[in-house]
Amino acid sequence: MRLLLIGPPGAGKGTQAALLARRYQIPAISTGDIFRANVAAQTDLGVQAQSFMNAGEYVPDSLTNALVRDRLGQPDVLNGFLLDGYPRTIDQTRELDQMLASSGANLDAVVQLTADTDELVRRLAGRSAEQGRSDDTEEVIKHRLEVFEAQTAPLIDVYASRGIVLKIDGLGAVELVTERIVEALAARGLVLDA
Ligand code: AP5
Repeated sequence: MRLLLIGPPGAGKGTQAALLARRYQIPAISTGDIFRANVAAQTDLGVQAQSFMNAGEYVPDSLTNALVRDRLGQPDVLNGFLLDGYPRTIDQTRELDQMLASSGANLDAVVQLTADTDELVRRLAGRSAEQGRSDDTEEVIKHRLEVFEAQTAPLIDVYASRGIVLKIDGLGAVELVTERIVEALAARGLVLDA
């Protein structure tokens, strides 16, 4: 099972990625989490990524692609993986295509999570109050949503033209959203022992 989760900030990608990874026994790979871990540890990568993340901008493709190439070269992805938040640009999509082609693999599905803007802002404002993530301020949330629309939303059409997008309503209880995803995958014949 090779999956992507795509959707605007606050759509629930990270939340669902963790649950699906456990259910299907495949690693969830979140570029956002990897960057945040590097920022926390102040590695070279973290230092380079930090200012982009704090501003709600995407980290340059060259850094992001190198990180994912390295991660997908590790042995635990051989039986599948779930990418959360990558690719986000056309360049990253091309790069991922090349990485998969070189190992003779294909994506099985792209799970598109949707939620209306008011709900996205409400969720991220809630997280801001709880966790104080540096990019969850009102101004940066607004910019992240704009960056998603400008740079990432067009990728949905690219994958839709390949017939692999599953559009999932991300509103409602977390478990309900998970069940919607699992059912949509099963309807495509993508069933794994859970
Ligand atoms: P990243 O960490 O991926 O942030 P994001 O895409 O903005 O997404 P979020 O984590 O805010 O939201 P989510 O959709 O994962 O929702 P979540 O489950 O967390 O990336 C951060 C930054 O890293 C980027 O801005 C960029 O700078 C950089 N970066 C990352 N990947 C990159 C790439 N490929 N290229 C370049 N730069 C990259 O949920 C959000 C909140 O909602 C939580 O509080 C959660 O508890 C709650 N929630 C979830 N589901 C529900 C539900 N069903 N009902 C109610 N609340 C819910």
